Amino acid sequence: MRSPGTFLLLLLPAVLAFKPSDFKTCSQSGFCRRGRALAERSQELSSWHSPYSIEPPELSPHQPGFTTNVHSSVYPNVKFVLDVIIHEEGIVRVRMDEENGLRKRYNEATQWALIGEPLLSDDVFWTVDSKKAKAVYGPKKDMELVIDFNPLKITLFRGGVEQVVLNGRGLLHMEHFRTKEDSKLVEHIEGEGQSVLQVNSAAWFEGDTQDAFWDETFSSWTDTKPKGPESLSLDITFPNHAHVYGIPQHATNLSLPSTTGPTARYTDPFRLYNSDVFEYLADSPTSLYGSIPLMHAHSATSTVAVFNAIASETWIDIAHVKGGVETHWISESGILDVFLLPGPTPTDVFTQYAHLTGTAPLPAHWSLGYHQCRWNYVSSDDVRGVQDRFDEDDFPVDVFWLDIEYAEDHKYFMWNKKTFPDPVEMTKDVEAVERKMVIIVDPHLKRSNDYPVYKRASELEVLVKPKNGEGEYEGWCWPGSSSWIDFFHPGSWDFWISLFKTDTIDGQWSWTESTNNVGIWNDMNEPSVFNGPEITMPKDNIHYGGWEHRDVHNINGMLFANLTFQAAEARTDPPRRPFVLTRAFYAGSQRFGAMWTGDNLGTWEHMAVGIKMVLANGVGGMPFAGSDVGGFFGNPEPEMLVRWYVVGAFSPFFRAHAHIDTKRREPYLLEEPYKSLVRDILRLRYSMLPVWYTAFRETSENGVPILRPQYIMFPEDEAGFGIDDQFYVGSSGLLVKPVTEKGVKEVSVYIAEDQVYYDYFTNQPHRPKNRQITLPANLDQIPLLIRGGSIIPTRERPRRSSPLMKHDPFTLRIALDTSGNARGEVYLDDGETYGYGRGDVVWRGFGAESTKGKGKGTGTMRISSVDLAVRTQVGAYDPKNEFARSVGDVRVEKLVVLGLGKKPLSVILEGGSELEWEFASKDGAGVLVIKDPAVRVVDDWAVVVKLE
Ligand code: NOJ
Repeated sequence: MRSPGTFLLLLLPAVLAFKPSDFKTCSQSGFCRRGRALAERSQELSSWHSPYSIEPPELSPHQPGFTTNVHSSVYPNVKFVLDVIIHEEGIVRVRMDEENGLRKRYNEATQWALIGEPLLSDDVFWTVDSKKAKAVYGPKKDMELVIDFNPLKITLFRGGVEQVVLNGRGLLHMEHFRTKEDSKLVEHIEGEGQSVLQVNSAAWFEGDTQDAFWDETFSSWTDTKPKGPESLSLDITFPNHAHVYGIPQHATNLSLPSTTGPTARYTDPFRLYNSDVFEYLADSPTSLYGSIPLMHAHSATSTVAVFNAIASETWIDIAHVKGGVETHWISESGILDVFLLPGPTPTDVFTQYAHLTGTAPLPAHWSLGYHQCRWNYVSSDDVRGVQDRFDEDDFPVDVFWLDIEYAEDHKYFMWNKKTFPDPVEMTKDVEAVERKMVIIVDPHLKRSNDYPVYKRASELEVLVKPKNGEGEYEGWCWPGSSSWIDFFHPGSWDFWISLFKTDTIDGQWSWTESTNNVGIWNDMNEPSVFNGPEITMPKDNIHYGGWEHRDVHNINGMLFANLTFQAAEARTDPPRRPFVLTRAFYAGSQRFGAMWTGDNLGTWEHMAVGIKMVLANGVGGMPFAGSDVGGFFGNPEPEMLVRWYVVGAFSPFFRAHAHIDTKRREPYLLEEPYKSLVRDILRLRYSMLPVWYTAFRETSENGVPILRPQYIMFPEDEAGFGIDDQFYVGSSGLLVKPVTEKGVKEVSVYIAEDQVYYDYFTNQPHRPKNRQITLPANLDQIPLLIRGGSIIPTRERPRRSSPLMKHDPFTLRIALDTSGNARGEVYLDDGETYGYGRGDVVWRGFGAESTKGKGKGTGTMRISSVDLAVRTQVGAYDPKNEFARSVGDVRVEKLVVLGLGKKPLSVILEGGSELEWEFASKDGAGVLVIKDPAVRVVDDWAVVVKLE
């Protein structure tokens, strides 16, 4: 019989579903209402034009940019200043601020987001006339930046074609700081005029209601807005581009739908305001845990992007119109600081953005393995028991996670000794088989003087302050009454770093009951505050430097992960690569670890949208991403769980996690055949770790995402621009389309090119028909293809954890293209240290080249391995470096050649003898298996296949 408690739990999902009333809509947010009203007025009034103009700049032709004054005809006495600068790679930066205003606008977002000041361009040529300034630049001199003076409008052209237009619709508005008295005066004067809508009056432009200028109430909270109105609105139009992508995080399509106009899919704009959204919807523009204000615009001939470096709450309206996409960005506070990334291809845009905000560093290799998490493994013995069960049933796993219940009274770092009496021994038991633990450390600190972390932070006065700027802000979170470290305060940095030391320094408290290998999970860092407005901090809270929380909200969580990353790295000397998982993020967060998509539901819709969200995060420069396998809430049926493991196995970050109220669902608990299916999926992931790690190397260099949707792979193929349910893995040539619906037996994979693709499991070649390849997709089948022309390196020995694979041999699947050629690569290093920066790497390129002989069907194919590190000169590279020597025993044990038309005459190791091989052919599709070519992965070698 069910206990009343169980009955209640069963009711929970229905009762506690997403509550729209917890979060504002645009119409409940004063500045968003004002911004949208401005856009509406602009369409209704024929007299509409932007009131902003600039003074013609004084410029010498080769300057990278200029600074000039901006005037608003609505507020002639208010001063603004504009900077337009052209940087290397043709990136344009446009900044506007109020000059000598009543207060200072927040101008530090780029200090946290960028990796440094971008370099100035030295190939610009300016001309100025009475109406506009024009810069011509770029290697082909085909880029043009035109700044119209009155009204102010900024247009980026490539090859004479408009790419991006700022303020083309006249919606730029920087609400200047004013006093309450001044604002009343304006109201009064305008009210006395003949018409409140007199052109160029404040009421004509700003509306005559002074809507929510001085305070604003939502539900039971009042935002006191002591600084009054200070919002910033800007229209950004992408003429000649039909698709826009990016601005994570939203549960929506990769190609962003309209939010306004006749084609609108949603009634609200997309919102960027880091939020802890309970049971979020699988199709919605509401804000989620992270915010990256980067948008790509794409067409068959061009990609451009805009990075709007703003940290306050921002709403973005999108309208797909004839000839392009119109967007309107409405932010609550801050200066205007917009970067235009000129493209012209998706790859160029990724590289340009990476040069601004950095790339995801090479992660610790073990973090690409499988992560087993649950809220909660409840004791040391529970952890040991789970590990034993994984081993008994031969499931590979690298990481066991501990959620908040390890911590006594939710005081992070402090073990509950009743349940975890021996934390270091437990961790070492996990580490003994080369596995790791990841342990949660949340940002809220229990306000209790017996908690050394809170006590010290309080003594150092580095906690976020309430609105009067005095004392400590107090809110409610897991531990009850809590306070939050203000990571903007430099005084908190060394303190935070010292906490993670596993030895004691200067008598200060540190986490001696931990090990240097432990990874850290930073959750709830939006920040989540259970009794705060919209489940977060009041906007009028005060941070270091006197900034209000509203100014820095979207950056706040990134700083927490940044400091945790530094702390975890500082545990050892020399440092090792830390692993940090964060829920909240901002532009630049990719430098500090992985993210996941938060509290998804165990539904097919959530499984499907999780893929789109991970793709969108890749567009936002944050490739190390995944969603909770199985769904956080609910009890997925076995079929769903198996399919979800496939989604996880093809995500850069692969973790199963579950809510405290769910039934246990570790894979060993499954019945057959599901149990064996999941084991096979885990083994598949492990066999492909070389592919994943090689893909991470590439993204760490150029910022191109690991999961690549069609528009990135085939930027000219329009039919692929809206596809977001299949993707390629890095440059490997693997193409996967996970099944995200119940009862599926077959799928159709979209193929943009006339190329042969091979089924990964059966080796069967497919040529697309009507751009589709149809594959069987029963529960034991994964629609996974190898693109002809690719070489896939795998390691196929099943192991318990990834470090145990270090000396395992490689298999190369050589998938010939229609011309009989293929290429691939593998990157290896110690997976732990920063030795790769000193050249301690093995980076091999593989090639297969076919040469035709004189007679029909004759010729040779040469399969070879070359050193890529030598060519690109990684650090002080020596092919006999320490790491290479340590893997000198690693062999290539098998070559599998797909797509060979005929049985070979012979297969010879160049400079050596005939090798053992087998050839099988079915319906003209030949597979040649070369067994043990007796070559080492660190060496140059070649195998020659002679054809009849
Ligand atoms: C919220 C997180 O999103 C979830 O993953 C975690 O289990 C709970 N917090 C408890 O820490």
